[in-house]
Amino acid sequence: MAKSYQLPENFLWGGAIAAHQAEGYWDADGKGTSIADILTAGSATERRRITDGVVAGENYPNHHGIYFYKTYKEDLELMAEMGFKAFRTSIAWTRIFPNGDDAEPNEAGLQFYDDLFDEMRRLHIEPVITLNHFEMPYHLVTEYGGWTNRKLIDLFENYASTVMERYKDKVTYWIVHNEIANQAAMAMGDTTDQFLIWTNSGLKFPEGTTFAERMPKMFQAGHNELVASARVVINGKKINPNFQIGAMLNCDVMYPASMKPADQLAVQKARQMRDWFSDVHIRGEYPADIEALLARHNWRTDVSEQDFEELKTGTVDYLSMSYYASHVVKAAEGKTPSLDDPTSIEVTDNNTIKASDWGWLIDPEGFRYTLNELNDLYPHLPIMVVENGFGAYDDVVEEDGVKKIHDPYRIAYLREHIRAMEEAIIEDGIPVIGYLSWGPIDIVSAGTGEMKKRYGYIYVDLDDFGEGSGERYKKDSFDWYQKVIQSQGQSL
Ligand code: BG6
Repeated sequence: MAKSYQLPENFLWGGAIAAHQAEGYWDADGKGTSIADILTAGSATERRRITDGVVAGENYPNHHGIYFYKTYKEDLELMAEMGFKAFRTSIAWTRIFPNGDDAEPNEAGLQFYDDLFDEMRRLHIEPVITLNHFEMPYHLVTEYGGWTNRKLIDLFENYASTVMERYKDKVTYWIVHNEIANQAAMAMGDTTDQFLIWTNSGLKFPEGTTFAERMPKMFQAGHNELVASARVVINGKKINPNFQIGAMLNCDVMYPASMKPADQLAVQKARQMRDWFSDVHIRGEYPADIEALLARHNWRTDVSEQDFEELKTGTVDYLSMSYYASHVVKAAEGKTPSLDDPTSIEVTDNNTIKASDWGWLIDPEGFRYTLNELNDLYPHLPIMVVENGFGAYDDVVEEDGVKKIHDPYRIAYLREHIRAMEEAIIEDGIPVIGYLSWGPIDIVSAGTGEMKKRYGYIYVDLDDFGEGSGERYKKDSFDWYQKVIQSQGQSL
């Protein structure tokens, strides 16, 4: 029988969403077009496409989301009923500055988040607010070329200061950039991937762009985002010294495919390509391996002395992270894994554990492992889990006139992952301060644009085209999670 654990009373139990996946009303009340608004629907096997502006006849799932812009009150009531202590969402930059470079903020957008945060406070739910979650203004792509342009640093700083000033008494926990390291995935495996660098940085490469052409752009965009983050921390602490400002990375674990030393090296290199983002966020400086890479290729272009001073000063207070799955990495046949050559590192299968219907490996032990690894890298830094969950198909059945969703698969995933996290906290002493599961209410999937990839405790009656009643039903996992929170993680 597995041990049971109880977490401290101040542990932040809750859930997390993002504005573009939930709010809908994509052009209401002065909102501008974001980079998420021009992503078409995709599927488990087909990537979402990035269109040139909004094209008539295309299906853009983020235009409807789950209409949270109008339903947030009833949705938050349900979160409160589950006992949520915290709720993470993002501010849509385009509701505040529709084009990103507007002289004045849009008051209607500011008012919306005032109302949202007031409602959360009324329900005793702590807001955890992301400033940049895959939804920068599209205008900043067409006019400025996305995050490779240093002007974005100032524009983002202005946006962040505007909202931090406005909500300084309502929000304490901030997250600057969501999953900032995703864009580096093209440095290994699929170097033609457009999606991740689009969602992080608003970059779209013409077909045939080489690895050597992409890499300096990715490094420039990443650098600018990190300098912007440092400025947000520096300014934020002046606005309210109590602010807790965090970094956010996907920390899915990576295993070597075999006991071959080259496979171990492949994992190390793959991790270095991700971890430099957290190193800069947390330690305020680039690690030696990335410095050497940049120098070797002359990939560092537009940087200043002042940047490095700001990076050193504006380090984050905590690390927030997502964990969904594990991955297996190996050295390509006959090659020594190296950051210079993306084809030297390959991602491979793992048939020792099961996967979700979207091919995501279900690996709770990997969760404990990655939490330990993070603490090894950044000892004593508070960690907030701000995404973890199981995307699955759900069926609605009617029993005695009541709509039910029996989702034991979701409960099983969450139970095992929460247990793994509790082991990391209690047995291993890892300073995890909160657990916000992803998509506590069904929302549009970021990766595929589907509604039918559902994570929620609350079912939303909408399909992939935004058709349906929009009604909300409690799934079995709703009562289950309520008990988890009530018992402080003891009743799994
Ligand atoms: C993370 C993102 O990558 O994973 C979320 O921060 C996203 O926005 C989540 O929704 C789950 O991915 P997906 O593709 O299943 O929605």
